[in-house]
Amino acid sequence: MIIFIEIRNRLLHESINRGGYEKFKKIYNPYSGLSVGCALKTSSGKIYDGVNIENSVFGLTMCAERVAVFKAVFEGNVDIEEIALVASTGKPIYPCGACRQVLYEFNPNTKIYSSDGKTLILLEILPFAFSRDALS
Ligand code: THU
Repeated sequence: MIIFIEIRNRLLHESINRGGYEKFKKIYNPYSGLSVGCALKTSSGKIYDGVNIENSVFGLTMCAERVAVFKAVFEGNVDIEEIALVASTGKPIYPCGACRQVLYEFNPNTKIYSSDGKTLILLEILPFAFSRDALS
């Protein structure tokens, strides 16, 4: 447990918290006012972060998690292993359903660190997921 908390803290420290919440300034959230920060780590040790980006067509809003995942995938790093989340409310948050599905594509065993110290495994919070196996 302690090791997970350390990893989570390191992830958050190395990304979202670096430079006094510098990355949080990039958040575009005029509608909800909720700031979400996400950091993910790939097996090569590379860290990608993301923030939520909202839209006046609310349904087009993009979550912090998917911003981070797409940044990693765009750079060819699909081997996502861990993801950490923080929210400006200070309350723990967990990935929404859409983000769970997007994360599942790359690694059903992704570890999810929430700011309350909990570590979840993606598989456990997205049982019976749709996967590429269903396509053939
Ligand atoms: N949000 C995230 O960034 N990640 C989640 O997992 C849930 C929700 C953002 C989207 C929107 O900008 C705000 O939180 C309120 O839904």
